[in-house]
Amino acid sequence: MKTAIIYASKHGTTEKVAHKMKELLGADNCSLINLKKTEVFDLNVYSQLIIGGSIHAGQIQRRVKSFLERNTVAILEKKFALFLVYMNEPDRDKQIEKAFPEILRKKAISVRGVGGEFLFDKMNFFERLMVKKISGYSETVSQLKTEEIEGLVNDLKLAK
Ligand SMILES: Cc1cc2nc3c(=O)[nH]c(=O)nc-3n(C[C@H](O)[C@H](O)[C@H](O)COP(=O)(O)O)c2cc1C
Repeated sequence: MKTAIIYASKHGTTEKVAHKMKELLGADNCSLINLKKTEVFDLNVYSQLIIGGSIHAGQIQRRVKSFLERNTVAILEKKFALFLVYMNEPDRDKQIEKAFPEILRKKAISVRGVGGEFLFDKMNFFERLMVKKISGYSETVSQLKTEEIEGLVNDLKLAK
């Protein structure tokens, strides 16, 4: 079974999660597709998809959103899972609902919030200012949830 992990990432955390998922799936037959680098590819090649992105100022990346919109029918024909990278824990569910269309959330094998990171060394001046003001953090912090990352991969492995 060929799997594609399709994602977009601003500072590299979603990319890190995608790599971890590939490792957990067993690297064979699994392609990592970064929507910032690859715009055109053949979805028909894959029978299983993992699709994810991160939240910035309340929104998932436009590229992820439009990929989901353009390919809803094709995605629904496959085994698929969705994941979201974020830092605002109280808003997790609301952000997941906003990021992924209901029809996809309902049919997905797994929909997981996997936490996130604030990587201050990768942020520009304005991002640092904004993150400090809103979150109170002023240094790099990682709140990735290994159990959610593993949980999503296990859900896919267990699904028929
Ligand atoms: C400028 C900025 C705005 C952010 N806004 C939100 C937000 O609205 N809600 C949230 O849950 N997390 C927010 N985050 C946290 C990101 O989702 C988190 O840093 C994530 O790990 C980024 O992943 P990426 O590097 O793959 O893009 C924000 C982070 C930055 C730097």
